[in-house]
Amino acid sequence: MLIAYFSWGGNTEGIAEEVGRQTGADLFEITLVDPYSSDYNTVLEESQRDQNEQARPALAGQVENMEQYATVLLGYPNWWASIPMPIASFLEEYDFGGKTIIPFCSHGGGRFGQSLTAIAKLAPDAVMGEGLSVHYAGGTTLSSDVRAWLETNGIEY
Ligand SMILES: Cc1cc2nc3c(=O)[nH]c(=O)nc-3n(C[C@H](O)[C@H](O)[C@H](O)COP(=O)(O)O)c2cc1C
Repeated sequence: MLIAYFSWGGNTEGIAEEVGRQTGADLFEITLVDPYSSDYNTVLEESQRDQNEQARPALAGQVENMEQYATVLLGYPNWWASIPMPIASFLEEYDFGGKTIIPFCSHGGGRFGQSLTAIAKLAPDAVMGEGLSVHYAGGTTLSSDVRAWLETNGIEY
């Protein structure tokens, strides 16, 4: 099992780390050759441009031996009611045939938005597990929410 995540502000990263603590699964951060600005107003512009163009930002690192993973827990923030475009780059870079993708999403109120549909379209050969949506960093119930979600997906650890 692999935990792969993209995080701009750290909330998704915190959730990914909690999932990692509970499962012991490998963590992989999806990073960009040309990262988004760390300035909030600028990233709003940059991400909207990428979204409008359906861009595929170049990724900086690669998962080694992706074929060894049967399940990928895929984390991202809700951006413009969908996935950040780096998630699209990631999904197109590997063959997800026969793998299970289990999404987790940090959001500011919009939950998954259209992101689950977007993922299913980009990885049509994958089996989609039950997703977890987390409000910002998840607060005090993060640990129990993650535990319940893993159980729902039949992940034993
Ligand atoms: C560019 C951008 C677009 C966003 N669009 C949405 C949105 O459409 N719906 C929503 O609920 N939250 C939206 N948010 C809020 C993020 O999903 C939220 O802050 C999340 O916790 C960020 O995760 P991160 O810290 O891992 O980057 C947006 C944030 C950014 C920076």
